[in-house]
Amino acid sequence: MLDGKVIVVTGAASGIGKAIAVAAAAHGARAVIVGDLVPEPKEGGETTVDLVRSYGAESRFISVDVRDRAQIDALITAAQDAGGVDCVVCNAGIARPGDGPDVSEEDMDALVAVNLKGLLLTAQASAAAMAGRGGSIVLVSSMAGLKGTAVNLGYGATKAGVNSLAAALADAHGPQGIRVNAICPGLIDTTLAQSSSSGVSEKMAGLIARMPLRRLGRPEEVGHVVSWLASDLSSYVTGVALPVDGGQTAVL
Ligand SMILES: NC(=O)c1ccc[n+]([C@@H]2O[C@H](COP(=O)([O-])OP(=O)(O)OC[C@H]3O[C@@H](n4cnc5c(N)ncnc54)[C@H](O)[C@@H]3O)[C@@H](O)[C@H]2O)c1
Repeated sequence: MLDGKVIVVTGAASGIGKAIAVAAAAHGARAVIVGDLVPEPKEGGETTVDLVRSYGAESRFISVDVRDRAQIDALITAAQDAGGVDCVVCNAGIARPGDGPDVSEEDMDALVAVNLKGLLLTAQASAAAMAGRGGSIVLVSSMAGLKGTAVNLGYGATKAGVNSLAAALADAHGPQGIRVNAICPGLIDTTLAQSSSSGVSEKMAGLIARMPLRRLGRPEEVGHVVSWLASDLSSYVTGVALPVDGGQTAVL
C-alpha cells in the first residue's frame, strides 16, 4: 500500500504513534522518520526505529518538540533527505489527569501548545515541503473532539480544534494535491489513555459496555487506518474527521 513512500510520524516513540510508524513499514513504506521528545517507548520494549527496520524500511529518530517550528523544520528536512515527504502524521499529543470543567490555566496552556499549536506548526511545515509534489497529512485527533465529556474538557476542546484544522487545511491545500484528514481514535490501550482516565475507570467500563465492539482498541488498529490515509488508495478522501472508535460515537 505504501510502496516507495517516505512517512514522518511525530510522537512516534510510544503508543499510537509507534503503531502508526510500524504499520507504515509493514505496508511497504521505504522510510519512516520517527520524531519525538525521546526515543524510548513509554511502555518499554524495542524502539520504534528498530521495529521499523525489522520490516526492511529505512528509519531515523529525530529529537523534536512539536511546540518549536525550527525543530519541526529539522524533522521535515531529515525526511526530505530520505527522498521527499509523502505523508506526515501529526500524532504527538498529551492529556492531563486533572482535566475537566475546572482545568487549570497551566494545564490548558500545555494542552493547547502541544495538541493544537504543535499540530498546526507540523502541518504548516509539511504542506510547505509537499508544495509542487502533493502528499497526505494526517492529524491525530480524538473522539473527544467529536463529543463533549466533562472529564476531558480541555483536551476535547483542543481536539475539536484539530478537526476544524483538518477541514480548513484540506480546503487550503487541496488545489496543490495535498490531502488533509483527521482521525478520531476512541479508547485505545496506551499509557496516555491510562493516565487521562485515572480515577474514572468506572466511567471507562461504562463506555466499553455501551460501545458496539465492546473492547478497547489496539494501537495497530489505528496504524492500519492511517496507512490507508497515507496511501493512494484514499486519493479522493480529504477534510474528514474519521472515527476509529469501535463505534463509540455512532450510538446513543
Ligand atoms: N490512547 C487513546 O485512547 C487515544 C484516544 C484518542 C486520541 N489519542 C491521541 O493519539 C495520540 C497519541 O496518543 P497515545 O495514546 O499514543 O499517547 P502516548 O503518551 O503513549 O504517546 C504520545 C507520544 O507523544 C510524545 N510527545 C508528547 N509531547 C510531545 C511534544 N511536545 N513533542 C513531540 N512529541 C511529544 C510523547 O513523548 C509520546 O511518545 C495523541 O494525539 C492522543 O491525543 C489517544
